[in-house]
Amino acid sequence: MNLQDIGALAEAYAEREPQALLALALEEFGGELGVSFSGAEDVVLVDMAVKLGGAFRVFTLDTGRLHPETYRYLEDVRSHYKRPVEVYFPQPAAVQDLVTRRGLFSFFEDGHQECCGVRKVEPLTRALAGLRAWVTGQRRDQSPNTRTHVPVAQWDRTFGTAERPILKLNPLANWTSAQVWDYIVTHEVPRNPLHEKGFRSIGCEPCTRPVHPGQHEREGRWWWEEATKKECGLHKGNLGEG
Ligand code: ADX
Ligand code: SF4
Repeated sequence: MNLQDIGALAEAYAEREPQALLALALEEFGGELGVSFSGAEDVVLVDMAVKLGGAFRVFTLDTGRLHPETYRYLEDVRSHYKRPVEVYFPQPAAVQDLVTRRGLFSFFEDGHQECCGVRKVEPLTRALAGLRAWVTGQRRDQSPNTRTHVPVAQWDRTFGTAERPILKLNPLANWTSAQVWDYIVTHEVPRNPLHEKGFRSIGCEPCTRPVHPGQHEREGRWWWEEATKKECGLHKGNLGEG
């Protein structure tokens, strides 16, 4: 299949199982394919890719503000699959400057963009540097305000350029949370213990909280901000800005 025709690719794989798209990507990109793993239920993509086999990479962005449970869980995943998880840290000087100028919780005052920019977005540019394609765990049902149109395949217009295009694959785009959990239970995939404590969407500790039954999972993220702005910059394209 011609991967340059992104519309046709997205359409062809929209209704197929996530493994079909992952298999295609593994064959096409191998070691230049990176699975971005946030330490949450997106672990299913790691599990699927490991089972399909091949030389893909797994990376995570350690913002320095993750829950203790998430750090331990990242280690569980690494030892369970016996594969390295590449960890990208923010630039020390940039974090130092941010917290010296603005304190450790500036995001509660004027939004998460500045902190996410330093702790997530810049490290992602380095994580993507050696890759031609990255896989994310984005799903349409994760955010009624920003993710309802996420396709299974798209050009990453935030991090890729005409000279160095980067394919962004969202194999779970059309899966529901229930389908993901069904997979986790059926395949006995290791899980972040925070899920048992009411956390449905997991990000950084200060910016994530558990939700009540009936609340949408996205309400547990950056709850003090307007729902239409709840993207941190990794997926800026969802806001029509990327
Ligand atoms: S976020 O942009 O709001 O933080 P979310 O938590 O929904 O994203 O996760 C969606 C996908 O973005 C994850 O499945 C993963 O692919 C990627 N992602 C988010 N945070 C990280 C992280 N800290 N490290 C690696 N990938 C991440
Ligand atoms: Fe900073 Fe919160 Fe963004 Fe984490 S989620 S990088 S703590 S603003």
